[in-house]
Amino acid sequence: MKNNYKTFIKNFIYLLLCILVTWQAWEVSRDNRNGAVSSTSKIASDVGIDMLKKGGNAFDAIAATGFALAVTSPANGNIGGGGFLVAHTASGESVSLDFREKAPKLAYEKMFLNDNGEYDRTIALESHKSSGVPGTVNGLLKILNDYGSGNLSLQEILAPAIDYAENGFVLNKTTARSFNYYRDQFNGDEGTKRIFVKEQEWKQGDIIIQKDLAKTLKRISASGNAGFYDGETANLIVKEMNDNGGLISKQDLLDYDSAYREPVIGTYKDYKIISMGPPSSGGVLIVQMLNMLENFDVESMKRNSTEFVHLLTEIQRLAYADRATHLGDPDFWDNPIAMLTSKEYAKERLDLISMKNATPSIEIAHGSWNNKESVETTHYSVMDKAGNVAGITTTINLSYGNKKVVDGAGFFLNNEMDDFSSKPGVGNAFGLIGFDANAIQPFKRPLSSMSPTVVVNNTDKGMLTVGAAGGSRIITAVLQTIISVLDHDLTVDKAIDTPRTHSQWLPDQIFYEKDSFNEKTIKELQELNHTLKLVEYGIARAHGIQLKNGKFITASDKRGELDGNQASTY
Ligand code: GLY
Repeated sequence: MKNNYKTFIKNFIYLLLCILVTWQAWEVSRDNRNGAVSSTSKIASDVGIDMLKKGGNAFDAIAATGFALAVTSPANGNIGGGGFLVAHTASGESVSLDFREKAPKLAYEKMFLNDNGEYDRTIALESHKSSGVPGTVNGLLKILNDYGSGNLSLQEILAPAIDYAENGFVLNKTTARSFNYYRDQFNGDEGTKRIFVKEQEWKQGDIIIQKDLAKTLKRISASGNAGFYDGETANLIVKEMNDNGGLISKQDLLDYDSAYREPVIGTYKDYKIISMGPPSSGGVLIVQMLNMLENFDVESMKRNSTEFVHLLTEIQRLAYADRATHLGDPDFWDNPIAMLTSKEYAKERLDLISMKNATPSIEIAHGSWNNKESVETTHYSVMDKAGNVAGITTTINLSYGNKKVVDGAGFFLNNEMDDFSSKPGVGNAFGLIGFDANAIQPFKRPLSSMSPTVVVNNTDKGMLTVGAAGGSRIITAVLQTIISVLDHDLTVDKAIDTPRTHSQWLPDQIFYEKDSFNEKTIKELQELNHTLKLVEYGIARAHGIQLKNGKFITASDKRGELDGNQASTY
């Protein structure tokens, strides 16, 4: 009897264990299937996931993540800047929203030239004149209003950001190091110093409190668009401008509106590529280059082999030459998008290059490269269970923009005006030629390279979202990620980890990361007449999400994240 009892207990425990193991396996397999948020901040990614858990969709989540980034990633995810959204909805709609900064009414073509008519880098990048009218708040609110689920109020969307600003958040290694790196520049502005400089160096685990930013976010929470573009926040921005020689007026703020644009849509093999059109150059160039690549057996070329890098360099040369001449703000410039993204044009352009030799860039077109774009930008994205995919790339241009915080409002001002061509048609301080398409004009948006991109499969389901930081290198980083996923069957994390190369017509060079090539490949590329230049600090920083076999795979670029993958899933 006693033995029977013991056997019963043993069997019972065994059964319980089996149930537990099966339940855990089921839980694990469920994980990563409900939604994913990828951003440069784990805190902000978790905020997005919380919105999905509360019944929000990808658009609620991306807006909440965006506002949280304004607190946790002040270098780039800032409400003082602007950006682009590219999305593909569960019902099959492709969307792109342009909330890029606009030149103020008082901007003028030669505003960054000194008395000698030369480009003045300090005014263009460090003064209050360098700021365009910010678009981020208007853009995030529009996305929420037009595509959000309606299940969550604006107050619920903004609550986590307000909490992290008011009560503080814990600095990770990446942010602490970044604050220390910019300490001297932060010290140059009283408002910035008060918030971002403390006696000792910042370290991982410190808590930073941003009371003024919390007040600004509360005003947005209470009054929506008017909480930023009118009333107290607008008055603080205008005072900051008036006190420091900036150009943004109250009317500029009141007039700001983001704009839905036709997304650039192309095909690559069986896939649909949805990306951002002008005022970004990214989508046009990515589609144009994929059209060219379709004429080659890319699948059989190893990434970073001589053949692959040569081909990539040659098509990038062609595409970036077009960028310089043809692209600008569509409200001011007629962009020949249909031509640039057609399969026929891709074939025509390919006649100019050879697989046997590098083509000197000067033979492709005359002019030069606008290399003034910075590396400090950020990409974040969301995929939800319903099939909505949304990606935003946003920037205040350089790290912490012009390093000046709006006094009393707690956020950094962008220095996006420097993305314009400061001296159209004439060589600038670097000997570079500016371009009419991107000359400074009141109310105009500067040309960007930000390329939030969604890849859709042949059942019209979004399967990949990717974007990057890195100025002109954004476009080639996104392109290489797409090729690695679609042609080389890498998952998005591996595709982003793989060493990158970059080239862009002028300068006539291939930039490469440390582990891109072995000596043999370097020699072979040199024999094809390429000039190579090692980049020590990494080429661009990409983030993305892929949906594969029903599960979300996330990627944070190890080039930028000292603290590991910052994405979240559930
Ligand atoms: N500020 C960098 C870009 O928009 O491309």
